[in-house]
Amino acid sequence: MSRMGVTGLGFGRYFTRHMALARWTHGSGWSGVELTGHGPLALSPAAMALHYGQAIFEGLKAYPQQDGSLALFRPGVNAERLNRSAVRLAMPELPEELFVEACSAVVRADADEVPRGPGQSLYLRPFMIAVEPSLGVRPALEYLFAVIASPVDHFFADGYQAIDVWCASDQIRAARGGTGAAKCAGNYAGSLAAKAEAVAQGCHEVLWLDAQERRWVEELGAMNFFCVTQDDGAPLLVTPRLSGTILAGNTRDSLLRIAPDLGVRVAERPVALDELTDPRGRVTEAFACGTAASVVPIGAVTTAHGRVRIGDGRPGKITTMLRDELAAVQYGTQPDSYGWMHPV
Ligand code: PLP
Ligand code: COI
Repeated sequence: MSRMGVTGLGFGRYFTRHMALARWTHGSGWSGVELTGHGPLALSPAAMALHYGQAIFEGLKAYPQQDGSLALFRPGVNAERLNRSAVRLAMPELPEELFVEACSAVVRADADEVPRGPGQSLYLRPFMIAVEPSLGVRPALEYLFAVIASPVDHFFADGYQAIDVWCASDQIRAARGGTGAAKCAGNYAGSLAAKAEAVAQGCHEVLWLDAQERRWVEELGAMNFFCVTQDDGAPLLVTPRLSGTILAGNTRDSLLRIAPDLGVRVAERPVALDELTDPRGRVTEAFACGTAASVVPIGAVTTAHGRVRIGDGRPGKITTMLRDELAAVQYGTQPDSYGWMHPV
């Protein structure tokens, strides 16, 4: 059934009719992409992903364009990141063409299920899991790659509003040499207890600090972090550099490229929690960003020492300008001068 124009979709609650599958076996490599009905997978209870966590995923969206067509946003970036995750988890890499073909096939098959209201899109979830039945602790010899799709609204039910974040001090997301830069299932499982604590503290998300000094801001549970500081009287957009413990976000990279074109200088450098929470400091705006939620203003940071408002606590001017510009590229309301949109 078509859900065009329907609101209240939420995020990841509904799925379209089709999914794409490909299989890898040691010795034979990847099969071709098969388009099939979205439904349960037959999996051995000994499938290695279930025991030792060889499970990686991606997230990207197909956006309705002005002429009614659909386009993926920078799918090649997700294909490359999936392969970096695969290498880190000793899983097989996937040819980029196969990744893009599988995503495109699902979008084409389910085009009538893509919601077309403001802020709506089709969220694609490509993933790869180890399916070989074995309890040996070693890389599996059989894998499944799949793409499923979910018609989505804006990620946060409240829409575009500033969120409160909670700074985890007793738990960490990733340490140097670990899997922080990989998009693997275990990273998310490991963040859920802290997320529950954040919610208990009246916050929406966790703001993770570095594992070593517990001093430097890294990212959120499923989004990268940015702030705007006043530097010689002019705004400077700052984000922590990719140190190996942070996920290299597609949205992060895109904003770093868009901002200078809007006259905003950018810097990738460490951001201390103290810098962010200094009430007399230079930080005037902060936001999180990712595919699912786009750009999300951060209104306040709660730490063990209390709650500190960022700026006036409302979505900042530069935050909103970047969000609007990104949306204009993604929904094709302005020319794709970056060549980022991939028609399906
Ligand atoms: N950081 C984490 C941990 C994430 O899960 C995500 C979401 O994918 C991001 C950052 C943002 O990445 P992207 O902009 O590619 O969606
Ligand atoms: C995304 O933005 O694609 C994410 O990965 C968020 C997701 C974990 C819900």
